[in-house]
Amino acid sequence: MERRGSPIPREQRRFQDRLPEDFLHPDLNPYLKIHRAWGRPVLTADEAADCRGGWHEEFGREAPLHVEIGPGNGFFLSGMAAQHPEWNWLGVEIRYKRVVLTARKLRGAVVEDHARICRYDANYLGELFCPGDIAALYINHPDPWPKDRQAKNRLLGPEFVHLLEELLAPGAELRLKTDHLINVEGLSKAIEGRPFELLGRSDDVRGQGTPWVDDVVTNYQRKFYEKGLPVYAVWLRRMLGTPP
Ligand SMILES: C[S@@+](CC[C@H](N)C(=O)[O-])C[C@H]1O[C@@H](n2cnc3c(N)ncnc32)[C@H](O)[C@@H]1O
Repeated sequence: MERRGSPIPREQRRFQDRLPEDFLHPDLNPYLKIHRAWGRPVLTADEAADCRGGWHEEFGREAPLHVEIGPGNGFFLSGMAAQHPEWNWLGVEIRYKRVVLTARKLRGAVVEDHARICRYDANYLGELFCPGDIAALYINHPDPWPKDRQAKNRLLGPEFVHLLEELLAPGAELRLKTDHLINVEGLSKAIEGRPFELLGRSDDVRGQGTPWVDDVVTNYQRKFYEKGLPVYAVWLRRMLGTPP
């Protein structure tokens, strides 16, 4: 197995791993230590960034790499990894507790040989992946940041789309489910003139299902169904013929 690229040196990473001793009160959040002590399938931020260019080595096999951003409690990631053991799965989650919740789900679903969860900020995905590394990307109910003054916090803007242009392999799919129209509009605007094609869209996932075939209802999705609120889906493909 050949490496496809190199990790970015630790001191040059924009998302810096933080050790318990970097915190004034490390015990305020027990998951800070728990996630570090867990071992596989958990990767700390530094361990994950060290895999850049060599994810197949981490998984011990060559297989398409499917990535979920913000898996939350891990229900979707574990469910999809159980349905598709032929792919390598990686969740990228910023919150310590949710990293651990996802690890528990991966263990429960017995998918730890081909699924990992790492703590990282998805805004810096380029520190985890080399160009063309990602075979499919899933984003379920990203934080909406609905107020105008919060707009800078939204993930699905032009900068993120630019990053995905590079990191998604030609032909790779991006599947978004969201409870917030602002995310649908933000993503649709951000891909204008960029090498992405729209494969499908739904403004009523509960009634019509997702435009794609296999799916797992997430924790947030279920909550919105229960409240009778809409769930939207956007299905994109990184176009062929324009290599990253
Ligand atoms: C609204 S929750 C949705 C959780 C889950 N996807 C679901 O549908 O049930 C958003 C998730 O994204 C994570 N998140 C937010 N910003 C992130 C970022 N920049 N990088 C990685 N994860 C992020 C949050 O910690 C949280 O787990």
